[in-house]
Amino acid sequence: MEFTELLHKRRMTRSFRPDPVPSSVLNRILDHGRRVPSAGNSQGYDFVVLEGDQTSTYWDTTLPSDHRETFRWQRLLDAPVIITVWANPTAYTKRYSRADKEATGLGRGIEAWVTPYWLVDGSFAAMTLQLAAINEGLGVLFFGMFEKASKVAKVLGVPDGYVPVGSLALGWPDDSDERLGRSAAEPRRPLEGAPDGVVHRGRW
Ligand SMILES: Cc1cc2nc3c(=O)[nH]c(=O)nc-3n(C[C@H](O)[C@H](O)[C@H](O)COP(=O)(O)O)c2cc1C
Repeated sequence: MEFTELLHKRRMTRSFRPDPVPSSVLNRILDHGRRVPSAGNSQGYDFVVLEGDQTSTYWDTTLPSDHRETFRWQRLLDAPVIITVWANPTAYTKRYSRADKEATGLGRGIEAWVTPYWLVDGSFAAMTLQLAAINEGLGVLFFGMFEKASKVAKVLGVPDGYVPVGSLALGWPDDSDERLGRSAAEPRRPLEGAPDGVVHRGRW
């Protein structure tokens, strides 16, 4: 798919068909996800991939049965793949303790970091996974783990210290569901111009 078309086409999918994603397709997406830039090339992102029946572990942890019946997006639970993305701050403090980065002082601890680059890089990885999935003709939703994150980490065996970036549901979109997410009607901010433009040329 052409890049501009891909960006313009990208919308979150919340209803899926349960058909599996071929492993060749999924592996290509995962491989693209690790080819992102990262601070000091620290590469402090990890993906936990759940396929088919394994996805019920995720839903059983995040969506208890008493909430499930009233859940607005029932066919989100049909997504054949869930990827949770995790960031590893220790990879960054370790990398920035090495001789070539020592002068930055960022090896001292995560408190020294004005911007938590592990979350920046994890987000780059999550975005790249999304674009790669759409490029394969799949639908994708990026969504939060919110207050369930530590439970998800535990049930998936994520080591201590890893920070949740978010979850991705992937699969073939169920195009018969034309509902949009509640926030989809929010107008996109204009490119530039007061009061709401995104771009500030020269100064804010
Ligand atoms: C950081 C982040 C968290 C999000 N969390 C959720 C979520 O928990 N549930 C959900 O349905 N959508 C979630 N979304 C999707 C947004 O609602 C969606 O991207 C936004 O409304 C714009 O719609 P579009 O992506 O289809 O253009 C999240 C998106 C981002 C970037």
